[in-house]
Amino acid sequence: MLVKLQDLYFKPFISEEQIQDAVQQMVDAVANDLKDEMPIFVGILNGSFMFVSDFVKKYPHPCEVTFIKLASYEGVKSTEDIQRLIGLTQDLTDRTVVVLEDIIDSGNTLEEVHRIFKNENVKQLIIATLFYKPEAYKKDFKLHYVGLEIPNKFIVGYGLDYNGLGRDLPAVYQLKTTQHMINIVLFGPPGAGKGTQANFLKDKYDLVHISTGDVFRYNIKNETALGTLAKSYMDKGELVPDKVTIDMLKAEVEKNADAKGFIFDGFPRTNAQAKALDTLMNSKDSQINAMVALEVDDEVLVERLLERGKTSGRSDDADENIIRNRIKEYYDKTAILKDYYSAQDKYFGVDGVGSIEAITERLSAVLDKL
Ligand code: IMP
Ligand code: MG
Repeated sequence: MLVKLQDLYFKPFISEEQIQDAVQQMVDAVANDLKDEMPIFVGILNGSFMFVSDFVKKYPHPCEVTFIKLASYEGVKSTEDIQRLIGLTQDLTDRTVVVLEDIIDSGNTLEEVHRIFKNENVKQLIIATLFYKPEAYKKDFKLHYVGLEIPNKFIVGYGLDYNGLGRDLPAVYQLKTTQHMINIVLFGPPGAGKGTQANFLKDKYDLVHISTGDVFRYNIKNETALGTLAKSYMDKGELVPDKVTIDMLKAEVEKNADAKGFIFDGFPRTNAQAKALDTLMNSKDSQINAMVALEVDDEVLVERLLERGKTSGRSDDADENIIRNRIKEYYDKTAILKDYYSAQDKYFGVDGVGSIEAITERLSAVLDKL
């Protein structure tokens, strides 16, 4: 489940349970090392309030708790300039101080913490942080206890905020690298009006229409590395391996990094391809939201295509048997995919009989819900 805070989307990253396990492990380690001391835990506000609360509740020996308040972040960026908002309010001479930080990122805040304690004559200054971003850390101060090492991506929840929001979440969420997209797989038997509808939807929802056929033709015509590779299979009369096709689609997705979403047309055709497409979307921090299939009765399709054949000159639109075979082939092939997406509650059949506008309306009703 995604969390939206102002303009940004965040995805689940560390569960409540994982957090509690990490806190417990830190408590066990600290308690074991300091069992004969009466430590004073110093939380760094605001971010650490939840961590400190859970930590001291689990701490098995008597202890003291206090806070100092520092601020460094603006939006999702760390700044060099740390502000001291509330300093130390008690004498810590000869005390064992354990600083409890929610997160250590660049280490700027930690540097300020060391500056604060430099003249306090404490017995020892111990640093414990629940989260730690090793790739972002630029300082040399020792971190005595680390709960979880995390990648250098912005997170919220469990005390951590984005512009003041998200501190109340009991679990931790990570900023999505691509923001919210609607991605659909569009299906329809020959004659269902898929192309026409794809055009309307792409304009209405500002989506990028990826027709696999077009992508193939483009790559082959422009002799891209993938196009040349694909052609080498086709020339031998072999099927182009899924990997090559998915790599082409991937390139297409990456070309449109700012897209609000994609309409996939002509892909996937098999379970393996549907999985590969899921993996691709997942690598973009996104997902296929729906398979939308235009449903049109066979007899209507036959009639429509025969009608089209009279004017289009397409030979495969002229023969009723060929038409019926193409329709049958469509259902044989897509049945598996209907099952695949139905199992994830992502299959949406849309009545494809009626005026173009009426069908667009019905499709829009599905997309509006996503
Ligand atoms: P540092 O000074 O760069 O080490 O950052 C430490 C402070 O920045 C933390 O106490 C947080 O308040 C904030 N911070 C760092 N990383 C994140 C994050 O991913 N989400 C929210 N706040 C963060
Ligand atoms: Mg903090």
